[in-house]
Amino acid sequence: MAERWKRGRMRVEAVLTAAAPLAGICVKGWARTVRRGKDVIFIELNDGSCFASLQVVVGPELNDFERVARLGTGACLAVTGDLVPSPGGKQNWELHARAIEVLGEADGDYPLQKKRHSLEFLRSIAHLRPRTNTFGAVFRVRSALAFAVHRFFQERGFLYVQTPIITASDCEGAGELFRVTTLDALNPPLNDGVVEFGADFFGEKTGLTVSGQLEGELFATAFADIYTFGPTFRAENSNTSRHAAEFWMIEPEMAFADLAADCALAEAFLRFLVRYVLEHCGEDLAFFDQRIEPGLIARLETLAAAEFRTMTYSEAVRVLEQSGRAFQYPVAWGSDLQSEHERYLTEEHVGGPLFVVDYPETIKAFYMRRNDDGKTVAAMDLLVPRVGEIIGGSQREERLDILDTRMAAVGIDPQNLWWYRDIRRWGSCPHAGFGLGFERLLMYVTGMENIRDVIPFPRTPGHAKF
Ligand code: 4AD
Repeated sequence: MAERWKRGRMRVEAVLTAAAPLAGICVKGWARTVRRGKDVIFIELNDGSCFASLQVVVGPELNDFERVARLGTGACLAVTGDLVPSPGGKQNWELHARAIEVLGEADGDYPLQKKRHSLEFLRSIAHLRPRTNTFGAVFRVRSALAFAVHRFFQERGFLYVQTPIITASDCEGAGELFRVTTLDALNPPLNDGVVEFGADFFGEKTGLTVSGQLEGELFATAFADIYTFGPTFRAENSNTSRHAAEFWMIEPEMAFADLAADCALAEAFLRFLVRYVLEHCGEDLAFFDQRIEPGLIARLETLAAAEFRTMTYSEAVRVLEQSGRAFQYPVAWGSDLQSEHERYLTEEHVGGPLFVVDYPETIKAFYMRRNDDGKTVAAMDLLVPRVGEIIGGSQREERLDILDTRMAAVGIDPQNLWWYRDIRRWGSCPHAGFGLGFERLLMYVTGMENIRDVIPFPRTPGHAKF
């Protein structure tokens, strides 16, 4: 039999887009509502394949009529019946049940009874929230966008590389590594009162990766164009709506590329992803536009057509200083831009996507390429309205002597990164790349305001449930 994995069922999405009536089909899913009329029961059945539910109509001739009438919201059902045009006009089709098998009952304690729940409450039941309209839409868009990410790079000849999750190097140098160890936390081996990591599982101090970039660079010097797409971990104790301790990042790296090529790739990539959701996730976007962020679709269409502006960090500081705004954090050349500054620039000053480039060397990572002015590096951040920084990237320092100077200045032992230095010794070339936070992208395209609501099971300070 063809496609046995389908287990004899049709997906609601296929049923609702049927071209003609269908006799004797089977649909399986979870009851969103069960309403009893005089001689009829209406069940809204949802299987997650699309936003809409299928209306199941049960008549008194069904053997189990009384039992079905007592079914609660959340019950799991297999319904066999005939798909016929729906007279109501609310939907094109409805399923007239001939038999209903109850696969799993749900009693009145089921928390997702038909009413609006706050996103905060739904976070506390993250095991059930995928069954709601909002999270159904979020996770369908997430899945579609993950596919689109691969499609963009695969169509352009980029090699997909899986960089390690356990690492001995802190790429961003911000000391935000989660420690990975098998040492006994209560009784670690000590050497002069200092923990002896040489006795640890990997024979050195290791942690969870904060970025796959350094290994990505190694692959770019063999395959020219590569990308990573994987989980990333940061133990930064910032309890904001835009930071998670575990998030997914996409990091392309291109050999023979400078900062301008890097920005051009970032622009093409973001445009492609936004167009992709507009084209493939219409029903879910319509929901976000209606219930989460009015005007969302127009905003995405504007971005897809927008010109991405570019401004140097020095210009950005001037704009902020002359804005007449009382920012919470003062602006001065040499200090990092805060999210209030970023949002002013992208939302009010340019009113669209903005690359800020050429940041002071002192506030950026050691691997960024030093500019000829000796003060700035070839870094870029892409800022978008509502979210702020969505992409961070740079041209990399390919000159070994300057890289060594930079590593020494920030206290990185060259021994620890001997392999990273080696690619500057043999066949070094100009190269550049960036990182796109997948959840930031999702926040941008869905209008959801909290990163905890675009990742299946969020990890944030104090929270690792489910
Ligand atoms: O700017 P970041 O720190 O850049 C890097 O990690 C580079 N190694 C990337 C590269 O050049 N290959 O992070 C890149 C992006 C940010 O722009 C943001 O979208 C996201 O990753 N990001 C986070 N997303 C969620 N939670 C966090 N704690 C994040 N930190 C960064």
